[in-house]
Amino acid sequence: MVASSPSGQAKWSSKTAFILAATGSAVGLGNLWRFPTEAGTNGGGAFVLLYILCVVLIAAPLLLSETLIGRHGQRSTIGSAVHLARQSGASPAWSAMAVLGLIANTLILSFYCVVAGWVVYFIGTSGMGLFEAISGGNALGGAYPEQSPESIREMMPALFANPGLLIGMQSIFVILTILIVARGVKGGIEAAAVWLMPAFFFLLIGITIYAAITGDFARAVNFLFSPDFSRITEPGVMSSALGQAFFSLSLGGGAMIAYGAYASKDTNLGSTSGTIAFADTAVAIIAGLAIFPIVFSVGLQPDAGPTLMFQTLPTAFHLMPGGAIVAFGFFVLAFFAALTSSVSLLEISVGWITEKFGVSRSAAAWGMGLVIFVLGVLSALSFNILADQRPIPFIPGFENAGWFDAFDGITSKLFLPLSGLVTALFIGWVADKKIVNAETGLTGGALSMWRFLVAWLCPLAVTAILVLGMFPQLLG
Ligand code: TRP
Repeated sequence: MVASSPSGQAKWSSKTAFILAATGSAVGLGNLWRFPTEAGTNGGGAFVLLYILCVVLIAAPLLLSETLIGRHGQRSTIGSAVHLARQSGASPAWSAMAVLGLIANTLILSFYCVVAGWVVYFIGTSGMGLFEAISGGNALGGAYPEQSPESIREMMPALFANPGLLIGMQSIFVILTILIVARGVKGGIEAAAVWLMPAFFFLLIGITIYAAITGDFARAVNFLFSPDFSRITEPGVMSSALGQAFFSLSLGGGAMIAYGAYASKDTNLGSTSGTIAFADTAVAIIAGLAIFPIVFSVGLQPDAGPTLMFQTLPTAFHLMPGGAIVAFGFFVLAFFAALTSSVSLLEISVGWITEKFGVSRSAAAWGMGLVIFVLGVLSALSFNILADQRPIPFIPGFENAGWFDAFDGITSKLFLPLSGLVTALFIGWVADKKIVNAETGLTGGALSMWRFLVAWLCPLAVTAILVLGMFPQLLG
């Protein structure tokens, strides 16, 4: 489906395919798993409101900035940034955003594969449940027919207590990601994005409707959409909301520059960025509306943390008619949603290494894959053997974070926003205005508005949130 241009750069076969592929990178565990976790631990409505503001005012404008750097550069992420800096007569040091992005995305991938490993585990258990249901003559029954809702909720703690199993599941996912990237991603990503993402979307809507009917929908809506205004000014809630906006849109100097390079010249980057941001946010909210009604109806705490999705949805699948099939289908599709993201995460460093050092794709993919696996093991073990280690107690806000929380927090709350700050300053102030404006596809008021957001609001707001996140005492 992907044709090559005369310059040898592969191009998405159509504008829709580019949107779907970029949305495929954006939509993943960030929406399904991380958004509900963060909303639950940061007070619900206050977080959701701030998150939406961050997406509209900061992340969407930066999404356009990143895709335009990529499309203009037609190179790897760092290469494209250097190219635009040189053409604008500026220092190539402005490519710092892509260097930071490369480091951040490598760290993100390390724990992303651990969480994706949990999905692999649930494919296994729901697959066995489906097999039991079929052999029990009740193929249309609920998931996990032999279990009780209580024992289903115990599956996550049991998995966490088993380091070998956690690492085994993680390695399956890491190896699959490496294998795809080693072969060259473009065709594979596009097929998965074009067919599986829409399938996933419809299944998720179905599950949400079921949760809305059978769960405590009113309380979930209230939790997610009526903000407790006293929490909105909490620095921790602000930096979490900003971090989630960056994470969920795959921002921070990597994937979206890389994907921009595959967009054809007649794609309007301004309007497609808006579409991608909207679709990604919609999926997160729909996932929240699937998960929170169950949280409240089965008496779980919304701030349960990273296990929330894996304790609520299996319970709903257990009670749901046809749940055995739905559970298996859901985890398989969630797995592909994670894979379309992980592949693009790995591609960022592999693309740069092959371009810079002339190493083969497969050597680069296996080498980086090994690094990512080893870093991920630290995250996996922080749920059991290494539970007491605090790797970065000297960074304000991370005094009590174990390895998993450290990797997750430091990337989304520090590295990605920092990279976004450099991007905003570069595009807003330094890069050649003619080139930039022409790449956006925007005109008139929309163009001025975007320029204002990138040049003024993004740098000021991101700096304020970063500083307050580090020094909350400034707010008194
Ligand atoms: N956005 C992805 C998700 O929501 C995760 C992610 C963060 C990502 N940064 C990325 C994916 C960079 C690809 C590239 O699951």
